[in-house]
Amino acid sequence: MIKEVLVMFFAYLLGSIPFALLVVKLVKGVDIREYGSGNVGATNAFRVLGLGLGILVALLDIGKGFIAVSVARYFFADQPLLLLVAGLLSIAGHNWPIFLKFKGGKGVATSVGVLISLSPKTILVAFLVWLTVVLITQYVSLASIIAAIVIPILMYVFDQETIFIILAVLIAVFVIYRHQSNIKRLLAGTENKVSLNKRVNE
Ligand code: G3P
Repeated sequence: MIKEVLVMFFAYLLGSIPFALLVVKLVKGVDIREYGSGNVGATNAFRVLGLGLGILVALLDIGKGFIAVSVARYFFADQPLLLLVAGLLSIAGHNWPIFLKFKGGKGVATSVGVLISLSPKTILVAFLVWLTVVLITQYVSLASIIAAIVIPILMYVFDQETIFIILAVLIAVFVIYRHQSNIKRLLAGTENKVSLNKRVNE
């Protein structure tokens, strides 16, 4: 039992590392929470730092979910429920990090990391959906919400294990729940867009 608790605690702690905040602080010396959407996430890091470092933050956040599930799989390969819990805990760590008084991001990139390790082809297709929506609308939030809804359907189509489809549904619920402010702004027509040419001013 101690091993289970330690691996789950590790998943949460790893998810809690606020890479967007750390990278923006390191590179620009400012607090990401005071810029753009105020979110501690890769999209907002992209707004402040540009594409290259935005992608770096996304990869670091993806890595958190990927490593959390991979470590759980190493110890509990035949217990998919524990992989599900480890994945959810890494996302919970990102969303409610112990290091930032439980005020974190929206968990999209970390969820990608969790799901890549379980069904890479699902994420490949979902990424294309996400990219298409971003390119057409410039709304990353809308793209993330649509991709999160599409993923469980894709996993069903790709014949994935039921427990991982349930995980994808739970992730979609998390993503939609964390995008409440974005949904309000989208409906009001005031949502922040992303642009390759424009960075958020200091
Ligand atoms: O991954 C978060 C993204 O979907 C929205 O980010 O900064 O526009 O709220 P943001």
